[in-house]
Amino acid sequence: MRNFEYKNPVKLIFGKDQTSKIASEIPAGSKVLMTYGGGSIKKNGVYDQVIEALKDFEVLEFGGIEANPEFTTLMKAVNLARENKVDYLLAVGGGSVIDGTKFISAAIPYDGDDEWDILAKSLGRKLKSAVPFGTVLTIPATGSEANSGAVVSRSEIKEKRTFGGPMFFPQFSVLDPQVVRTLPKRQIANGTADAFWHVLEQYLTYPAGAPIQDRIAEGILNTLVEVGPKVIADPNDYEAAANLMYSATMALNGQIQQGVPTDWATHMIGHELTALFGIDHARTLSIIGPNLFRVMFENKKEKLVQYGERVWNITEGTEDERAQKAIEKTVEFLESLGIQTKISDYTSDYSEASKIIADRFKERNWLGMGERQDITPEKVVEIVEMSI
Ligand code: NZQ
Ligand code: ZN
Repeated sequence: MRNFEYKNPVKLIFGKDQTSKIASEIPAGSKVLMTYGGGSIKKNGVYDQVIEALKDFEVLEFGGIEANPEFTTLMKAVNLARENKVDYLLAVGGGSVIDGTKFISAAIPYDGDDEWDILAKSLGRKLKSAVPFGTVLTIPATGSEANSGAVVSRSEIKEKRTFGGPMFFPQFSVLDPQVVRTLPKRQIANGTADAFWHVLEQYLTYPAGAPIQDRIAEGILNTLVEVGPKVIADPNDYEAAANLMYSATMALNGQIQQGVPTDWATHMIGHELTALFGIDHARTLSIIGPNLFRVMFENKKEKLVQYGERVWNITEGTEDERAQKAIEKTVEFLESLGIQTKISDYTSDYSEASKIIADRFKERNWLGMGERQDITPEKVVEIVEMSI
């Protein structure tokens, strides 16, 4: 196991009807900017719960943060917050609203020329101040409620970029699994798949003498396989929804990546598919991930065999056969959730995709991604071509 230092300061407030507790988490007298998305919270009662809980605070609202939050939209919230001297942010929504709010938190005090640099130049760790924020989560998926990373899109240049740093952990996150009841099945499937890939990015590398991290990761994967389909079949199944929600949080709260190598190339390539074609985040991972495993097969074989046995009960055949079977079972699982796993299932405009993505990675000097830094732009071309 490698050396590590780990601190996750996010207070999780988990369970039924917990939203009222936000009032005691936000410092008294704060001027709060509440951020949200396209309006689902107004239909499912979460908006009313938050407004009621914040009745003793001065509250401004900023709605309309889109899925794959847009830089230009977020900058409107930044300006609103600056004009009104907001000193606390409350994100009410899914990964997009929470990520968008992390960016708003970073951008309000930013005094550089162009806030896009926070993303383009990955300034997250260099920034000196940020506006504190909490979250009320409405979709189990990204883990953004319990981590310090964010992803922001800029559609006019077809870019989707990440940033993060210790200042961008939420101070608290309310996780009420009852919100799952109103989620469209597509979003439940996306959330299950995103969490699944988060675990695989941190687990499916090579053995690193870290059986505790492995077994936590496998526990999350097994739980997702068990509860994801149950929640899709019946979003009113509270126990299943609660386990899905906690699995998604556990998948990306930083814990399972301590002391082990991580990959993340599936996410980096996937982000480009969202930027180019608008494909849902989790679906981009489900398209790319299995083919990345195929192209990088020798790198990942040992862990594929372990994963195959402990998650899919694959015990027969040669090592190669078992590892291949584990990839097939992964694809079957994703497709059973209703997720299509080819680029051509989503767009017919893919002919230049592999070249565009590889060129972008070269420009950014991302010449060797993955746990062994050997996923070169040439390998990226191979992976994307195989995914068409
Ligand atoms: O905008 P509203 O009207 O709220 O509708 C949303 C949105 O259309 C809807 N929704 C959310 N909660 C709902 C609901 N509808 C009904 N009932 C509810 N309770 O769901 C749609 C999708 O929401 P979004 O926030 O986009 O989904 P998700 O949580 O999957 O977030 C995806 C974003 O997170 C980024 C992705 O790249 C993408 O931009 N990620 C963030 C990560 C992080 N910060 O750690 C890691 C991930 O790998 C990921 O990259
Ligand atoms: Zn993800």
